[in-house]
Amino acid sequence: MPIPRIRLGGPAGPDCSTLVYGTWRLLNDAIPTPEALCARLQHCADLGITTIDTAEIYGKYLVEEALGAALARDPSLKRRLQLVTKAGIYVPNAFHPERKVAFYDARGARLIKSAEKSLRFLGVETLDLFLVHRPDWLTAAEETAEGLARLLQDGKIRAAGVSNYSVHQFETLQHFLGGRLATNQVEFSLLHMDPITDGTADQAQRTGAPLMAWSPLGGGRLLRDDDGAGRRVRETVDGMRDAHPGLTVEQAAYAWLRMHPSRPLVILGTNRLERIAHAAEGAEVTLSREEWYALWTAAQGRRLP
Ligand SMILES: NC(=O)c1ccc[n+]([C@@H]2O[C@H](COP(=O)([O-])OP(=O)(O)OC[C@H]3O[C@@H](n4cnc5c(N)ncnc54)[C@H](OP(=O)(O)O)[C@@H]3O)[C@@H](O)[C@H]2O)c1
Repeated sequence: MPIPRIRLGGPAGPDCSTLVYGTWRLLNDAIPTPEALCARLQHCADLGITTIDTAEIYGKYLVEEALGAALARDPSLKRRLQLVTKAGIYVPNAFHPERKVAFYDARGARLIKSAEKSLRFLGVETLDLFLVHRPDWLTAAEETAEGLARLLQDGKIRAAGVSNYSVHQFETLQHFLGGRLATNQVEFSLLHMDPITDGTADQAQRTGAPLMAWSPLGGGRLLRDDDGAGRRVRETVDGMRDAHPGLTVEQAAYAWLRMHPSRPLVILGTNRLERIAHAAEGAEVTLSREEWYALWTAAQGRRLP
């Protein structure tokens, strides 16, 4: 079954795959060669996972450059893929020895500078989706909105959004941006259900801007033996295999997210090709209402209120 798609940010925004390949951990283990990374991106695109999530800060500011080198090996990928990046977190690093502490900066001029750097590193003329990575408590929403509006107007980004924003922060920025925020990328999984109860997912339904769910496996915790909630979820998935032959824990976890009415796009974090393919194979899994609530109950370790 093809991976379902969704357009973000209105008619001019990118048509994204609802399974997204995330690159936070890209350089964690063995650093892939540009050729190997190009092959991985081609593999994702062939599977229908055409949306790639990255950020200026990933890999100590090196992931975007690595992606750019991979994309240069096969320029057709630039047409096939939708590139999502984020900016606004600045930490001390080798390129900036003058920085003594980590800070957030979502002032318009800073966002524009970061977006232009991302364009250069990725080797593209437009970013499909550009997100403010974290709310910056020191910048007025109006000023952030001015920067995003300028990037949209200049065609440097096709859509704008945020990440890790509270409901009120989203609403305030949305007000100054004329309702154009395309998404809020938040932590959302069986092990982190806050978006369901803190208003984030309701806001996504109300505004029509779908969430993007990061760490859908709790950063891998869902699969670890020492995690109680993970163990209960795995036992529950074991009991679902009569109805879903071959169902794996991660496929169930992605399906659980997808079925929420806030329509979250699920961002995969694995570096392994076979796990990416496996996630794509699970795109057709649909849980029953009872199964969805059984997973909620298992993850929470308590009965429904
Ligand atoms: N906006 C934000 O603030 C923010 C924050 C965090 C992440 N993100 C985005 O979300 C993406 C996903 O986050 P995440 O990496 O924490 O996702 P995740 O899917 O929750 O965790 C991925 C980790 O789980 C491990 N894992 C173990 N068993 C696995 C299995 N069967 N299938 C898949 N993975 C398995 C992976 O290891 P292997 O590589 O060995 O498979 C990897 O280390 C990131 O890449 C990034 O793009 C955004």
